[in-house]
Amino acid sequence: MQKFIINGGRRLRGELDLQGSKNSSLPIMAASLLCCGECMLRNCPNLTDVYAASRILNCVGCRCNFFDNNVSVDSSVVEETTVSEDLMREMRSSIIFMGAMLGRTGECTVSIPGGCELGPRPIDMHLAALRKMGVDIRDNGGSIVCKASSGRAKGAKINLAFPSVGATENIILCAVTADGETVINNAAREPEIRDLCDFLMNCGADIRNDGESRIIINGKQQLHGCEYTIMPDRIVAATYLSMVAATRGELILTNACIPEIEPFLSVLEQTGCSIYTSEKKIYLRSGSRLRAVRDRIRTMPHPGFPTDAQAVLMAAISAADGTSVFEENIFDCRYRHTDALIKMGADIQVLGKVAVVKGVEKLHGAKVEATDLRGGAAMVIAALCAEGNSEITKICHIDRGYENMEKAVSLLGGDIRRN
Ligand code: EPU
Repeated sequence: MQKFIINGGRRLRGELDLQGSKNSSLPIMAASLLCCGECMLRNCPNLTDVYAASRILNCVGCRCNFFDNNVSVDSSVVEETTVSEDLMREMRSSIIFMGAMLGRTGECTVSIPGGCELGPRPIDMHLAALRKMGVDIRDNGGSIVCKASSGRAKGAKINLAFPSVGATENIILCAVTADGETVINNAAREPEIRDLCDFLMNCGADIRNDGESRIIINGKQQLHGCEYTIMPDRIVAATYLSMVAATRGELILTNACIPEIEPFLSVLEQTGCSIYTSEKKIYLRSGSRLRAVRDRIRTMPHPGFPTDAQAVLMAAISAADGTSVFEENIFDCRYRHTDALIKMGADIQVLGKVAVVKGVEKLHGAKVEATDLRGGAAMVIAALCAEGNSEITKICHIDRGYENMEKAVSLLGGDIRRN
């Protein structure tokens, strides 16, 4: 099992080119199933989750190839409608293939991706919406067997109780080739949803009000392939900005997505570092010790503060001047990184949804284990500002979302090794 060995205490400085978004790439790869032809996806990150998505595409009969940061998908032939349990388990977000398979073939058999590092991740809203679209869904001993009654799902009016990202994506994927009009009320507004809609519209889909909380889709008989560039990863941006801010360094992020990362930037600015943006670039300078964030940091659906950036910001301000308070409103188990930060000297108290972080003078190196993707990234940040050596094991979690993190950190002058 690989680990990171980090010698902390260096100021990070330099320029980084932002990778493409994982959470856009995965649904867009699933969407390519609908295209009955060739798609070329540019700016796809080299990540284990992206490889898992390409294995699912290959298993159902598509030809999916990865070269540099390009993924080509030929979905002219889809001959298999069952995704094996092993493939489903490799990646928690494999569930978005359900909507795409239904949209393409009118049927599919998948398995419940199960609990994960962030706690149980129910799919009740996905299933209820698809049922409303005329899909018969049965549990067959752990497999979910789905079949659209007339061979094609039908449009429906769907009111989501919560703007779930995955449920919104599954509905869109099923609706773009369904019979008639689908209206989604209270749809998720995450930028990755807009990226998915943009891709689908390039393939001929009829989607209106995309990116808003009400999405209207008119199903088409067939979509065609296209060439598309995946948006930059706003959470990876938040991670490297937090990292450099915490080490009192300087960063220029290129190929960045400015409006999409604004909810994070406005909070990071409260720590006292200077941030300014110009077209597709973010500049950050952090000369002195960070200040605690004065407002409670509440994770909320977009355009609120993103849950995916909670852990990395917490690591960055665990040695800030003063006390910061987090409130996690999206996932039940998203404070699992706090034990590792405490082991490194942080003063954090978790009470249900709330975490109180009293800034300490200094963190120190420790041996810790990555608990999940963003939690693992938070540990790298803490280790880089800590005094002494740290070892972070189970970095397979980090590789799910960060392309070659050790290369990026070394480029900025950090002392990190993969072993
Ligand atoms: N939920 C339900 N029922 C459902 C669906 C969701 O109760 O049918 C609950 C979940 O349990 C959770 C909340 O609703 O408590 C939000 O879940 P959502 O469906 O919005 O999240 P997701 O689609 O599973 C995506 C990202 C996550 C990100 C969340 C929130 C991908 C592949 N994953 O997950 O990203 O945290 O949206 O923005 O897009 C990550 O990148 O580290 C990551 C976890």
